[in-house]
Amino acid sequence: MAELEIRDLHVRHEDLEILKGVDLSIDKGEIHALMGPNGSGKSTLANTLLGHPGYEITQGAIIFAGQDITEAEPHERAKAGLFLAFQYPVAIPGVSIANFLRMAINAKRDEPIGVKEFRGQLETAVALLDVDRSFTSRPLNDGFSGGEKKRAEILQMAMLAPDIAILDETDSGLDIDALRTVAEGVAKLHKSQGLGALIITHYQRIFHYVTPQFVHVMLDGRIVLEGGEELVERLEREGYDQIRQEHGAVV
Ligand SMILES: Nc1ncnc2c1ncn2[C@@H]1O[C@H](COP(=O)(O)OP(=O)(O)OP(=O)(O)O)[C@@H](O)[C@H]1O
Ligand SMILES: [Mg+2]
Repeated sequence: MAELEIRDLHVRHEDLEILKGVDLSIDKGEIHALMGPNGSGKSTLANTLLGHPGYEITQGAIIFAGQDITEAEPHERAKAGLFLAFQYPVAIPGVSIANFLRMAINAKRDEPIGVKEFRGQLETAVALLDVDRSFTSRPLNDGFSGGEKKRAEILQMAMLAPDIAILDETDSGLDIDALRTVAEGVAKLHKSQGLGALIITHYQRIFHYVTPQFVHVMLDGRIVLEGGEELVERLEREGYDQIRQEHGAVV
């Protein structure tokens, strides 16, 4: 059984059925891409996976590490090893990145992490991701540029060492250098920690740094097409019209 198994997932959000039967399996160490036009349901899937209360699962199941987490609370999912980077990260004024990271780590543990151990982990993550050490003293997301928010997220991911990460448009709004830092960060965590990821994106460019083994295309709340890396290039070339004609709305 794969680490994360999504089975026939139907999800309702604000009285609307948005996901209409999604099947998707992600194993540790696998990089998956999820692509699809605006409004097709990608963020709905990401939010549902992390247990956002506004999303009601009306049918199907989410199995993580052999356990049914369909009804689990968000912190239980995080503790089990699932990680979500938000499309729109929130600011927490007054809490430094380092303190936030410590809280996030402690939320996953029974005993609080020791000062020395935490410092060691932080140094390792900062070095791995090529982040300026002084960055971690700044208040989380408060006055951050878009790229700095994304860097903070990837740093958080490195510290939490999740088994599977869901990255919803982590690459949007980044300049070329920031995109490389973030994408190479994911690639490094993939290599060094065996991170598995579902990368939700509209663009091919992030995949220049981290190669997806599996590509899924979502259309109108369903995954209608799956393939390898070559599918990303096809989408870049052709857009979604052709796929919509071939696989569009089954009524
Ligand atoms: N707060 C909301 N109120 C009403 N409808 C919503 C809300 N959030 C999402 N939707 C609808 O749910 C559907 C799926 O949205 P979702 O955000 O999952 O799409 P997406 O694939 O992530 O799109 P994008 O590529 O633009 O991020 C859309 O039709 C959208 O209009
Ligand atoms: Mg979205």
